[in-house]
Amino acid sequence: MRPTIAYISLDNLAYNYHLLCEKSGDAEVMAVVKANAYGHGLEHVAPCLYQHGCRSFAVTDACEGAELRRLLDKDAKITLFSGIFDDDDAKLSVDYDLTPVVTEIWHINCLQQQGFQAAVWLKVNTGMNRLDTTDWQGLWECCQHAGIRIEGIMSHLACADIPEHPLNQQQVQIFQSILSKLPVQVHASLLNSAGIAALPPTSYFDVVRPGLALYGIEPIEAAPMNLKEVMCLKAKVIQIRKVQQGQSISYGASYIVGKAMNIAVVSIGYGDGLPRELSNSGLAFYENQALPIIGRVCMDYCLLNCSESDIQTGDEVIFWGEGHSVSSLAKQLNTIPYTLTTGLQSRVKRKAIQV
Ligand SMILES: Cc1ncc(COP(=O)(O)O)c(C=O)c1O
Repeated sequence: MRPTIAYISLDNLAYNYHLLCEKSGDAEVMAVVKANAYGHGLEHVAPCLYQHGCRSFAVTDACEGAELRRLLDKDAKITLFSGIFDDDDAKLSVDYDLTPVVTEIWHINCLQQQGFQAAVWLKVNTGMNRLDTTDWQGLWECCQHAGIRIEGIMSHLACADIPEHPLNQQQVQIFQSILSKLPVQVHASLLNSAGIAALPPTSYFDVVRPGLALYGIEPIEAAPMNLKEVMCLKAKVIQIRKVQQGQSISYGASYIVGKAMNIAVVSIGYGDGLPRELSNSGLAFYENQALPIIGRVCMDYCLLNCSESDIQTGDEVIFWGEGHSVSSLAKQLNTIPYTLTTGLQSRVKRKAIQV
């Protein structure tokens, strides 16, 4: 078996979930597990959260929803953030008891035609201007005519990770104003992880929707919640070799050996989701020693300078996790941690561990 593994700590996941529940007070935690639980492995993450009491989950679409339903009992609510895209999705929503978000009249008509009799969320624009509606009244009326229940109204903050940004307060106010006009009370939901970390409890409403924080990644460095990182990405050294002064390493001969050195060939590359941008600039960690990535990251391999280390063939090195935060790596790469964890390919094994 190719030793390229994302270890998933279920204990840390459960810890983060309980911490978020505690912080959220009376608001229900809707666990965001889309995109294969942000790359962590839906089959590990969802049942673990369910066992720890979570009964509300969110994924992107009906295919993800159907996959999730197979992992969970009937009493779990499964919300589809992107709603439905066609008749097949509407049918899946009926068959798997899914709760789509709707943003267009045709979504409601399509659901009705497929015999949908359950509930939907309406997603309203308060400033994000992404997939949402400015005509919530139209959707509301349409749901009533179609006999479709409205589970709740949600909106999404554009700048929650910048707590001082004026758009946050504007969005909260616009959301409150919409809520005050509803003909009957339904659930309200506004906050993602960063919102929970930074906004006051008055903005929690009935349901909060953390994704990132569940996986132990701090949404706002300056407002840490003391989460525990869930994923640790490791791969094994599969060969150690000596290279001589003047030789080059890997494709493009971008690294020329200055002084004879030992290099470790590691079984991970960009075909697994290790960013190629780490060529000649990233680090892997072995027993808290930092080993520089030298030469270009290949599809299946990367190469480390291990001259100063007693690392052996068969030893595992860490690329992120266990104290080497995916957030700091993301910062180095000028990206966000979401892209790194969701970028892990399916050939990377997700191995659930209890610690
Ligand atoms: C509508 C909605 N709510 C909540 C989330 C969760 O966000 P986060 O992972 O930042 O907590 C997302 C993620 O993209 C989202 O699209």
